[in-house]
Amino acid sequence: MLKNKTQILDLFSNFIKIQSVSTDKKRFLEIKKAVTFLSHFLSKLGFSVKILEKEKAPPLVLATLIKNKKAKTFGIYGHYDVQPEDPLSEWETPPFSLTLKNGKFFGRGVADNKGHIVQNLFAIKKLIKEKKLKNNIVFILEGEEETGSVHFENYVKKVKDILSKIDVFYLTDTGMHKKNIPQIFYGLRGIIYFELAVKIGERDLHSGIYGNRVYNPINVLSDLIAKIKDIKTGKILIPRFYDQLRKTPKDELLLLKKTIKSDKEEKKEAFVFGLTEIEGFGSLSSKILPSFDCHGIISGFTQEGQKTVIPKEATVKFSFRLVEHQNPKEIESLVFDFVKKNFPKDVKWELKCLSKSAPFYTDVNNKWVKKTERILKEVFGNEVIFNRTGGSIPAAEIFQRLYKKPIILTGFTLPDDNIHAPNENFDEEMFFLGIESLTKIYEA
Ligand code: BES
Ligand code: MN
Repeated sequence: MLKNKTQILDLFSNFIKIQSVSTDKKRFLEIKKAVTFLSHFLSKLGFSVKILEKEKAPPLVLATLIKNKKAKTFGIYGHYDVQPEDPLSEWETPPFSLTLKNGKFFGRGVADNKGHIVQNLFAIKKLIKEKKLKNNIVFILEGEEETGSVHFENYVKKVKDILSKIDVFYLTDTGMHKKNIPQIFYGLRGIIYFELAVKIGERDLHSGIYGNRVYNPINVLSDLIAKIKDIKTGKILIPRFYDQLRKTPKDELLLLKKTIKSDKEEKKEAFVFGLTEIEGFGSLSSKILPSFDCHGIISGFTQEGQKTVIPKEATVKFSFRLVEHQNPKEIESLVFDFVKKNFPKDVKWELKCLSKSAPFYTDVNNKWVKKTERILKEVFGNEVIFNRTGGSIPAAEIFQRLYKKPIILTGFTLPDDNIHAPNENFDEEMFFLGIESLTKIYEA
């Protein structure tokens, strides 16, 4: 194997070993390990590294390499935190160990987003080693993207002097359209994430003795959830929820039509038995419209067999994806009012907003996008698809709002990359072609 390739795989595999699950407070030491790991690599490359910390929040790693004050400055964003690995039993390889199998890398974070960070690090390393790096580079690596980037805006404001010099931001935290078909994104949905706890009393009760006589917290929550969204039409029923929604312009819809995959293909990619849609928008329903989803319910008896209990409390986690021009703060207050209005009076409840971020939408008519498009086309041999995704990356909107510079969202994983799920993977060929593309992008 080539020496360079061995080095890449070595770094990649050591990075995957670090269990930097940002939502798990018990693994905060692993977050710190990832910070040390990245700082060490970047310092060795000659970067000056700054670590921004806020008590108990994952730090931001900021690494700067100034080659020439007159040259262009590239900002390269990534997130070193990963999603939890559960359910463990569904993994076919150990989640925190890089495994190459059937032409794909497996492991938690290989795609989202450690693999992309490794690609960027090696693209820059190669340019430095071959003395081809003329541009200035700033790495901005955060560790709480998967928990909503709660401290990100404060962190980046503290280093405004450095970040305001950046000419273009690259965020490689998305994927390709299909194998060898590159993609650039001009839109992301925003997201607002809640946790809602309901308590009906101080003790669990016998459902025979108390059924009909007390509220059941699971029933109360389910009733509320059912009131939020009509699953037949897909419509969110919270009053004024759609007030600020911008109608997608006809010409954009026409362009987006070109990106649509067949239902059959989408079903296959997602391994689902059926698809839903809103108002005939088909595949675009998850890109240009807001959505509502529950992520977990904690309550009651979930072990094998039966137990006739009315639990004293229940908690649900849910989120709304938002599109332009919905404002997360306003949505937060609509949701709060809705919960308040719809719960029975003598049930205790607490609604917490865990994070919120605004939708992102950008102009792709600039020289940076054109250059990126040209290089991606050259490396992969196919036209680049311009698309939007329903996923969220809070940093994109924050960079755009604070620095008003072009933002380029791309990535090299495939639709079956299983991000956030067991058996997360990154196609080996796309991984190495991605490094080649990034090398050319940062060189020019
Ligand atoms: N890499 C994803 C964003 C993404 C997903 C882009 C799918 C393109 C396609 C990112 O790491 C992510 O998962 N973001 C979270 C943000 C949230 C926790 C605030 C998301 O979208 O759920
Ligand atoms: Mn993610």
